[in-house]
Amino acid sequence: MNAVIFGLQWGDEGKGKITTKLSRDFDFVVRYSGGSNAGHTVEYPDFKLIHHLVPSFDVRANVKGYISNGVVVDLGVLKREIEELMSKGIEVENRLFISNLCHVVLPFHKLLDEKLESVKGSKAVGTTKRGIGPSYADKAHRVGLRLCDFENEIILDEKLEFIAMFYESVYDISDISFDEVLHDYQYISKFVISPIQFRKDYRDASLLFEGTQGVLLDVDVGTYPYVTSSYCSTSGVEAGFGFPVTVDKKIGVFKAYLTRVGEGPFPTELYGSEGEVLRRVGGEYGATTGRPRRCGWLDLPLLRYAIEVSGCDEMIITKADVLSGFEYVKVGVNYRLAGRKLEMPYNLQVLSEVEVDYVKLPGWKNLEDSNFDGFLKFIESEVGCKITMVSTGPRVDDIVER
Ligand code: GDP
Ligand code: IMO
Ligand code: MG
Repeated sequence: MNAVIFGLQWGDEGKGKITTKLSRDFDFVVRYSGGSNAGHTVEYPDFKLIHHLVPSFDVRANVKGYISNGVVVDLGVLKREIEELMSKGIEVENRLFISNLCHVVLPFHKLLDEKLESVKGSKAVGTTKRGIGPSYADKAHRVGLRLCDFENEIILDEKLEFIAMFYESVYDISDISFDEVLHDYQYISKFVISPIQFRKDYRDASLLFEGTQGVLLDVDVGTYPYVTSSYCSTSGVEAGFGFPVTVDKKIGVFKAYLTRVGEGPFPTELYGSEGEVLRRVGGEYGATTGRPRRCGWLDLPLLRYAIEVSGCDEMIITKADVLSGFEYVKVGVNYRLAGRKLEMPYNLQVLSEVEVDYVKLPGWKNLEDSNFDGFLKFIESEVGCKITMVSTGPRVDDIVER
């Protein structure tokens, strides 16, 4: 059995925690897209991990991790993550595998990320500045550096020289050094594997694909151009993994409210003290950049859209405990423009102008409260998809089935 866990919103839905919880039933957790822009926080009873590149497998269980072709890898970030795991006594060798077709994020990708943002001015995306866009752009321009390029010194030297020339000519970025990357590669080389070898060794393994970001940040179906540069919806699974694969279950994760880091329209956003309350009680600060997350009410037109384009089979709700004690919660149920109802518009100008129809539902004291059950049933009936599990707190085991 294979499954995918992915975000139904603009990221940070709690995918890492849910992936860790469910990973015990699989042989591998597989990352298929994104890079170190992802920040997946996993709270174990005694310690906390923030995964940027290492898949969120339960470190206490017999489950392994594979970083597949679709991921862009910052070798320094990966090395630090591996070191942190090992410092906690967690076994990583023979447990983490990285495809040699992965592209490498290079130091000047981060410089270029900043430069592009600054040139865009008021149209900046608000990226994580982790060099993700430039790394995927190099891949598309066919000048990217892949892990397999490190295997032959002559080919590597040629390639590095070519990349330095390309960056100087096209982007006016000079004084490029690869020393750090070469040094970090030495450390991670023992984890690198050809995808064919991985397939051969683990043909019958059950795979849990771990999404990064969320459907609304997908480069094709998200709120373009305020998106990331990869296919983070479910359609990215096969492309990123690099082999045809049957995904038996598509499990979408969503928060009981909504957050967004970075720019772009956000129809149900709460401003001022209202937004601040959600940010404070929900601890809504980026796991990668520490930036305050923009907060707002749950938006059902966006959720319906995300379910439709991802083919979501079932949903898991997180962070409803954050709303415990609120007198009421609001849910955006429809958009309206000039009095006419509409579903999620692709035109971002329209999305930024829509008015939202809200329903106000009674709050709940705790997650056993019948008002909370009413909230879940309301969402299910509005979006036509079942909520199979409720995450009740940040720790891995804080979760109940419905
Ligand atoms: P991800 O990127 O989707 O993995 O999510 P992040 O880790 O960036 O952000 C989710 C945050 O919420 C993390 O700090 C989690 O520990 C925390 N979290 C996850 N599920 C719950 C939940 O049900 N309740 C509460 N209070 N916190 C949660
Ligand atoms: P996880 O996996 C939330 C956002 C950035 C920015 C846009 C583009 O933890 O949910 P990028 O650096 O990718 O070019 O930035 O995407 N973004 C995320 N927002 N969670 C993430 O990952 C994100 N990864 C990227 O804030 O708006
Ligand atoms: Mg995150």
